[in-house]
Amino acid sequence: MIRIDSRLPFTVNTVRIERARQILLRAIGRTEGEVDVLLTDDPGIRELNARWRSAPRPTNVLAFPPSGPLPEEMRGGFLGDVAISMETARREAEEHGTGIDARIETLLVHGIAHLLGEDHELGPYEAHRMAMLEAELIDLLHREKTMADLCINIDHVATLRQARGTVEPDPVTAAGIVELAGADGIVVHLREDRRHIQDRDVRILREVVQTRLNLEMAATDEMIGIAATIRPDIVTLVPEKRKELTTEGGLDVAGNLAHIREAVARLHEAGIPVSLFVDPEMHQIDSAQKAGAECVEIHTGRYAEARSPIAIEEEFDTIVASARHARDLELRVHAGHGLTYRNTARLAAVAEIEEFSIGHSIMARSILVGLERSVREMAAIVKTGRPA
Ligand code: PXP
Repeated sequence: MIRIDSRLPFTVNTVRIERARQILLRAIGRTEGEVDVLLTDDPGIRELNARWRSAPRPTNVLAFPPSGPLPEEMRGGFLGDVAISMETARREAEEHGTGIDARIETLLVHGIAHLLGEDHELGPYEAHRMAMLEAELIDLLHREKTMADLCINIDHVATLRQARGTVEPDPVTAAGIVELAGADGIVVHLREDRRHIQDRDVRILREVVQTRLNLEMAATDEMIGIAATIRPDIVTLVPEKRKELTTEGGLDVAGNLAHIREAVARLHEAGIPVSLFVDPEMHQIDSAQKAGAECVEIHTGRYAEARSPIAIEEEFDTIVASARHARDLELRVHAGHGLTYRNTARLAAVAEIEEFSIGHSIMARSILVGLERSVREMAAIVKTGRPA
């Protein structure tokens, strides 16, 4: 758990710190609740230092193994607390010329190494051993952070609800479970015909989603107005036809450049970054950059539908080439559509793809094995690049 000292004079985005905490805990073979983190200010850390270490001065990080008799349920499990002064971390980030996130990660690693029994103050040998462990943990953290994120499209929870016109299952509840199971983001498509996700869903999701909310939508005036009010973390512009079962093909950015560019500009005015859902075609990717988007989501439908080994290979190569081209143009790369437990692993190993947007296959499996398990199984594929 991450706790924020109420006296902290600025707000802190804990999403990245929490991700680092979880990766590090996994790396040292510990579980979720075994290291708590307190983010405090200089007076806060000075107080802790004075009280527990008789050193009445501020510092950057302190580690506290559990002291005294622990409650039964914690014995043998809880490793301890790490307290970080966000004020000192900020100053140090500036001095070191690194970002605040990188500095906090370094401090967190230092604290965890202490909790594991290392102590650089004991002598040069111990200092060296601790530094080796810290370097190993930082390396691991970076490697894992470069793995793709899994964002989960929960539209079909709403499809089931709308099939009966009732209130269940609620996509808002599903979003919470999906996040707890390890998803990096929630995706919903608010369609013009409101066939699954409703306006109310998007409004509540904006309040409750703790990771990030990606709103898929058509580039219409109505939708841009809704996005500007709700302010999702990112909008993905998709083509939309009323009769289609699901999104068919990517957005023709090249053929509608002026219109898409204007939509992107209006979303940017509202402070919302934009991704464009495009087919893996070079001219569409070039146009996405010209339209001012910061990201493309490469449509993986043709790859997913290819049946012969040669066709699969061709489609795979096309996606890889498009992803590389997009990265060369400094666009971030997402991918999605039609991805399943069988065809995602190969794409997850493509370094240029930063994020996957997957819906139907996960929801379909959840009916049989449960939502949490379905998410965990897909996350394992996306994070390792290995088939289940
Ligand atoms: N990405 C986009 C742009 C989509 O429109 C969809 C379907 O709503 C998806 C990803 C997810 O596709 P699937 O449900 O096939 O995983």
